[in-house]
Parts: sequence; C-alpha cells; structure tokens
Amino acid sequence: MSPDSNLLSEDSISQAVEKALAEIKQAKNLEDLKNARLNHAGEKSPVALANREIGSLDGAAKAEAGKRIGEARNIIKNALEIRTTELQSERQDSILVSERVDVTQVLANGSTSSLLIGSRHPLTTIAEQISDVFIAMGYEVAEGPEAEAEWFNFDSLNISEDHPSRSSSDTFYVESLDSGVVLRTQTSPVQMRTMLERKPPIYVIAPGKVFRTDELDATHTPVFHQVEGLAVDKNLTMANLKGTLDHLARTMFGEDIETRFRPSYFPFTEPSAELDLKCFVCKGESKKIKNCKTCRGEGWIEWGGCGMVNPNVLETAGIDSKKYSGFAFGMGLERTLMFKYGVTDMHDLVEADLRFTKQFGLGI
Ligand code: DAH
Repeated sequence: MSPDSNLLSEDSISQAVEKALAEIKQAKNLEDLKNARLNHAGEKSPVALANREIGSLDGAAKAEAGKRIGEARNIIKNALEIRTTELQSERQDSILVSERVDVTQVLANGSTSSLLIGSRHPLTTIAEQISDVFIAMGYEVAEGPEAEAEWFNFDSLNISEDHPSRSSSDTFYVESLDSGVVLRTQTSPVQMRTMLERKPPIYVIAPGKVFRTDELDATHTPVFHQVEGLAVDKNLTMANLKGTLDHLARTMFGEDIETRFRPSYFPFTEPSAELDLKCFVCKGESKKIKNCKTCRGEGWIEWGGCGMVNPNVLETAGIDSKKYSGFAFGMGLERTLMFKYGVTDMHDLVEADLRFTKQFGLGI
C-alpha cells in the first residue's frame, strides 16, 4: 500500500475526524474555529487530501473509500456548524454584558445624563413671575398677535395718524407702508383686543414680544419684551394703580424698594405717568456718589409707563366711560431683568449663550 493510499485507510480517516472534533471542541472563539476549519475542512486538510486519492482506487474500494470520506466530511461539517452557533451566541452574550449601559448611573456632575442640560431663558422666567404676581390678584393672562393691525397698535389707542412713532424709521411695517399691518411696537394693543372681547370688570396682564427699528447695542434691541396690564372696573383710581405697581415693584425688587410717579404723556392714558424706581446703585444719593452711571445723577430710574385709560379709548372699545374707569401700565422685561440682576449688556439677553442663561438655572 502506497503512503498516499494510506490516507484513505479507515484508521487515518477516523484519526483525522477525531483530531478535527477535538480541535473544534477546544476552539474558544470564532478565530480559533476559523483555524480549525482551515485545518480540518480546508483544501489541505487530511480529509481533502484523502479525497484526492479516491480517483486512484478502483471498483468497490473506490465506492467504500468515497463513502467513508463523505461521512467523515459530514461529521466535521456538522461539528463546525454546531460550534459556530455556540460561539456566536457566546460572543453575543459577552457583548451584551460588556456593552451594557446603566441608565440609572449617576455621573460625576450629579446628573444621570451626559447630555448638556439647558436652562430657561431668564426673560421667560421673569415674564412668568410677573404674571404670577397678577394671577394671585385675580388677573388673567391675555395675548395678542405679534403681526398686528395698525389700527390696534396705534389708532384704537388714540395715537394720531401723524404721530412720529408710526413712521417707518420707528416701526416695522409688514410688506408695505400701506399694508395696514405692523410688527407691534408695544403690548398695548392687547388692551383694546381684550376690551373688545370681554365685558368689565376686566383685569388682564399681557406679556409678549414687541418690535422697533432699533439697532442692537448695549441698551437696545429690535426685538424686546414688554408686559402690559389693564384693569377696567367701577371706581378705579390712580391710587389703585399706584398700589398695584408698588406691590409688583416690591415682589420684583424687595420690600424696601421705593417708587414714584412722574407726570408724563401717553395718548391712551389720561393722566399719564412714568413709574420710577429709586436707583439701586446710589440709593437716590447721587449727589453724594457723583456721576452714578445707573441713574446718571437723577437718583431715580424709569421702569415703565402708566396712567388712567383715556375715556376715548374706553369709548372706542364700546365701554361707557361714565360708568367705568380703567388703569393701564406697560414696562420692558429686558429693563426689569437688567435692574433685578445687574445685567449691563443687552447682547447677553439676545445671544442665547448658555454660560449666561445657566446662571439663572431652571427657576420658575
Ligand atoms: N406702551 C407704552 C410704551 O411702549 C408703555 C405704556 C405706557 C403702556 C402707558 C401703558 C400705559 O399701558 O398706560 O412705551
């Protein structure tokens, strides 16, 4: 018997199968198994080499050897398949363990998430704080559109057609000057909308965005926020207005804040006043602290406008001005925030820089 035909012997085939099964069984991972497959089922494996010898046999010997090798190859193939499935599922299990994410784990920053946590914009917070002060006094929150009819923004509020604030150098007109639609320059149009929708007694507070054609600088921004207040009832007087605004000032700036009314003019209120706050920085002692930058030596800073609703405005809304009186006020939220927190640059309020807004946290 030639050494090659020896490859086909029962012994050498069963030895080759045994060796193959042992190596397959010992394979610890898919890489090992790949080697076992090459060694025992590859082109140069003993069974493949033996297979090549079959051609040199004849007759019954050929058939017998063919059967033996076929069986051997099947055994090896099945063993490889079974081990592959086992190792694949082992690998899957270990991936599940090694890549497990503990979603409840608390990170070094004290949070359970590695995502950046944002914060509310302080203007949103302050608008809600002011609204809450009024809701507690029985007011309702009212809203109006930002693209507003010129009539609501100006005419209905007794603002004459030739009033300088109506010019396109102060007001954004939507599409064209004669479109009749402006980006509201104040929240005061919400007064008229409310009076047309509701019957007195009316107590509303209306925070919102307003627009004027100002360039962005340290103290101006073309888009800013105001809060408007309106009360219409029987027997309302300037004293009610002053008491209400003093209450707001104390909640916003502390119990010892001082306020004053300074005579002023607004077409929609008569009489009208500016509401001033005693300067926080020099405490009104500007003569002692020369050149106080905050109040420019005035001792007082202007917070907002107010007054008794002009009877013309009440009548435009169909409210009997002999039976009812009203007071109204409006102040800038950016200004309020700047006073409250000593913010000195408007850019900080419009740039949405998280380093700025995060200082105010998630306050509500
Ligand atoms: N709308 C005024 C402004 O933008 C502020 C204002 C003044 C509102 C007097 C009022 C008011 O309701 O009565 O300057």
